[in-house]
Amino acid sequence: MMDEPLLLTPGPLTTSKTTKEAMLSDWGSRSSKFIKLTADICRKLEALAGVGSVSPKHTCVPIQGSGTFVVEAAIDTLVPRDSKVLVLINGAYGRRIAKICEINGRDCKILETAENIPPAVDHVAECLKRDPDITHVAAVHCETTSGILNPIENIARVVAEAGRLFIIDAMSSFGALPLNLCEIPCAAVVASSNKCLEGVPGVGFAIIDNNVLARSGGNATSLSLDLFDQWQNMKKTGQWRFTPPTHVLAALQQALLEHEAEGGVEGRGRRYQENCQTLIKGMKRLGFRTYLPGHLQTPVIVTFYSPNDNKFNFEIFYDKLLGRGFEIYPGKLTRENSFRMGCIGHLNKLDMENAVEAVAAVMLEMK
Ligand SMILES: Cc1ncc(COP(=O)(O)O)c(C=O)c1O
Repeated sequence: MMDEPLLLTPGPLTTSKTTKEAMLSDWGSRSSKFIKLTADICRKLEALAGVGSVSPKHTCVPIQGSGTFVVEAAIDTLVPRDSKVLVLINGAYGRRIAKICEINGRDCKILETAENIPPAVDHVAECLKRDPDITHVAAVHCETTSGILNPIENIARVVAEAGRLFIIDAMSSFGALPLNLCEIPCAAVVASSNKCLEGVPGVGFAIIDNNVLARSGGNATSLSLDLFDQWQNMKKTGQWRFTPPTHVLAALQQALLEHEAEGGVEGRGRRYQENCQTLIKGMKRLGFRTYLPGHLQTPVIVTFYSPNDNKFNFEIFYDKLLGRGFEIYPGKLTRENSFRMGCIGHLNKLDMENAVEAVAAVMLEMK
């Protein structure tokens, strides 16, 4: 057994030793060194989203906390209080956006499809046509509930054609699936440090259209989640308003260097694709079935149906796999019995082959 399990989970995930080692120093949050670190990270994140360095049209605003914090910050900051959001739902994270709207007092309409069906672009267009009160649309790029790929580019196009603003939750896809803001009209894309960028958890960021950001003062109902205020303060001082997650940012800087060395979004996406194919091929050989068809499957996380057999118990399966050095994730589907295995993090093809071998051994033990 290995010392630490490999995390086949959608984040927090397995990080490189060098990324962990980057957290061994303490940083003064007001030091010029740390101010530069924050600025460097923001410029790199913008570049990953296709934002040019000459007269950039979008700005990265980071915020302390997990992914949900930045999703909530984006809704609360960018959606005026009297506006209405159309939320596209095909899983738990779309549902969470609707809950955020509700709690933050933003009117919201839901367009929901089954967890294995992407939203239909013409339905979105129709909804926008019928309801002139809708000002914003929010959708998830890779819905991590199942691992499904939603057609973000096409949705962005119809939202822009209808003159509305688009907010993308790219939490589990940013850094591995292409998302170029020069080509995709959107008000903001949000993600966090601890998924495809392979940093550690603790910071999220929103890459926001400069015009939208400039108009967003006074929208937020929260002090700590106000991205406008955070941006204003960073512009003035280069500093975070409240205690920044210094070590998390140092780790993210190292993780971004490793991302670049791997060939950026393309290189990272290629390794995840290989991980995913190795996993699916191996698991199918053992008789497991995937929830999603190949064309909707992202190389981020794979949902497998649990075997239809009384002897299969997820808790036992999980514990036994953990004993062999692999931590997996329970299913999150509302209807079907399933479990999930992540393909992201500091993992390669051999790790995925070993994971499949461990599953085979555990299934044999469980008869
Ligand atoms: C698409 C998506 N959105 C939002 C979140 C919420 O992030 P967190 O759990 O870090 O708050 C996740 C987490 O997995 C996610 O996958």
